[in-house]
Amino acid sequence: MGEISQVSIIGAGLMGHGIAQTCAQANCNVKLYDIKSGILENALKRIRSNLKLLAEERIIKHKDINKALSNINIVNKLEVCVKETDLVIEAVPEDLKLKRKVFSEVEKYCPEDTILATTTSVISIGDISEAIEKPERMVGTHWMNPPFILPLVEIIRGPQTSDSTVERIKEFLENKCKKKTIVCRDSPGFLVNRMAAAVLAEASKLVESGITNMEDIDKTWTEHLGLIYLLFGPFRNLDYIGLDIIYFASIYLSNALKDERFKPPNWLLNKVKRGQLGIKTGEGIYKYEKTFEEMYNQRIRSIIKILRILNKL
Ligand SMILES: NC(=O)c1ccc[n+]([C@@H]2O[C@H](COP(=O)([O-])OP(=O)(O)OC[C@H]3O[C@@H](n4cnc5c(N)ncnc54)[C@H](O)[C@@H]3O)[C@@H](O)[C@H]2O)c1
Repeated sequence: MGEISQVSIIGAGLMGHGIAQTCAQANCNVKLYDIKSGILENALKRIRSNLKLLAEERIIKHKDINKALSNINIVNKLEVCVKETDLVIEAVPEDLKLKRKVFSEVEKYCPEDTILATTTSVISIGDISEAIEKPERMVGTHWMNPPFILPLVEIIRGPQTSDSTVERIKEFLENKCKKKTIVCRDSPGFLVNRMAAAVLAEASKLVESGITNMEDIDKTWTEHLGLIYLLFGPFRNLDYIGLDIIYFASIYLSNALKDERFKPPNWLLNKVKRGQLGIKTGEGIYKYEKTFEEMYNQRIRSIIKILRILNKL
């Protein structure tokens, strides 16, 4: 099993065309298939226009546009698309039955060691892989939209996905496509969409109970939470606030809102008991060599930097 260089994409819609473009820019030979031939022509137009935009923004050189385009072949038959390929990436609509049907067809025509990747946003990989005979070669690759510019791809290990499948896809995404990856176990919604769903559910509750409106929810993210999480992530940020503060806030919120989900988690209780409260004690969720003042100043400088980039200062 060598390096992945032949990639077949099934479904040339919003995600499929963008993933095809990313793989073509990574110098892979790409075959792109869709059930509707009009969509294929349209996908090529979109890819050309995306590449032009990237060149205008100086992300790529103008001469790279035709090079990337020449790496893509559109095909009208599924069997031709997957016949000789190292990796199949399915990007058909979010429908379990359809995805199962597509993969059971793909498996009939592709080589034995081809990796089968699904771009599903939320559906369990185990549910999809029930349709195929070799589930060890199926993996979830949840790309972000637009895939040719956003860095992260979630890799989801199905209940039967083999280690070598995960290693090969990770190597391909990181080294060839220059993506950042996270690997998680199979679970509906994975990481990105499960956390996004939790935020959406809470934000909707705040709006529907009349506490605020959608515009102000968006503002809390664009003017604060989005910036802070961008810089520190939801866990590292707690070390700057103080885990003791978070612990007491959790107790208050869970009691006042009568909502068990806000109760302090066990890891937090244990950290507080051990006196590991964040940058003020030199250890919280993470360990710190620098003093409180140094860490605090570093935080201020990072916030200034991001506000300057965003023209908010
Ligand atoms: N839209 C997003 O922002 C986004 C982000 C990440 C992941 N995803 C996931 O990517 C997948 C595709 O979503 P999308 O937004 O690109 O959908 P889309 O509707 O834009 O594209 C789907 C394409 O699949 C084609 N298709 C349908 N049945 C087919 C078949 N049997 N064989 C071949 N092609 C077929 C359609 O003609 C269409 O062009 C979904 O699983 C979705 O959850 C979407």
